[in-house]
Amino acid sequence: MNNTHLIFLIITGFMVFTLFYSCESSSSGGGSGELISSFNSSKSHNTGSNCMNCHVQGGGGDGIFSVAGTVYDEALNSVLPNSIVRIYSSPNSDEMPIAVIEVDSRGNFYTTANINFGDGLYTSVEGATTEIFMESPITSGSCSSCHGDSTERVWAK
Ligand code: HEC
Ligand code: HEC
Repeated sequence: MNNTHLIFLIITGFMVFTLFYSCESSSSGGGSGELISSFNSSKSHNTGSNCMNCHVQGGGGDGIFSVAGTVYDEALNSVLPNSIVRIYSSPNSDEMPIAVIEVDSRGNFYTTANINFGDGLYTSVEGATTEIFMESPITSGSCSSCHGDSTERVWAK
């Protein structure tokens, strides 16, 4: 093997290593990657269930969600894809939201963004026509721990 071949081999080896390493570090293994729902995406599952039964530290779901749930239509029978969930620091707000989360094609929304609920944040859901606010503050983004359990499902129109 001459020197040109050796250099070629070293360079190729380095490129393969770099490629592998960068794929490895951008994957979401163990919940370290960023995940956020978007319009028309269908990567989610378990529509209507409490996502945070699993998508929490040590819970086994891929990604630790700060906010997640499912939006239904007004009749509460079918999901309402492509609606929008927002998180605000004050109630009925027209200020800039802390987070804007697009609802995917399964009616689900989720984000791994770091959101500090502190003493409480406010939330709304907007469908095709109306932004509906939840009156009371929330200290958790686990929407389906209440909605679909102790209170009716999250809905919009
Ligand atoms: C019973 C446990 C469980 C529940 C409940 C659950 N998940 Fe998951 N989820 C998992 C597991 C495990 C994976 C990884 C394997 C897979 O894709 O099925 C996953 C994967 C995902 C992924 C793909 C992540 C990626 O890396 O592409 C998304 C998105 C997701 N879940 C969203 C949700 C949403 C939104 C909810 C609630 C509506 C939810 N999950 C409820 C266990 C759960
Ligand atoms: C601790 C329980 C709880 C959590 C967590 C919770 N909610 Fe609520 N939500 C309620 C209750 C109770 C009401 C009705 C009273 C009110 O508006 O404060 C409500 C009302 C709403 C309404 C207004 C519905 C209407 O008929 O006017 C929306 C929209 C809403 N919630 C969205 C959400 C979203 C989105 C999340 C997650 C980011 C969430 N909620 C988390 C309990 C909860």
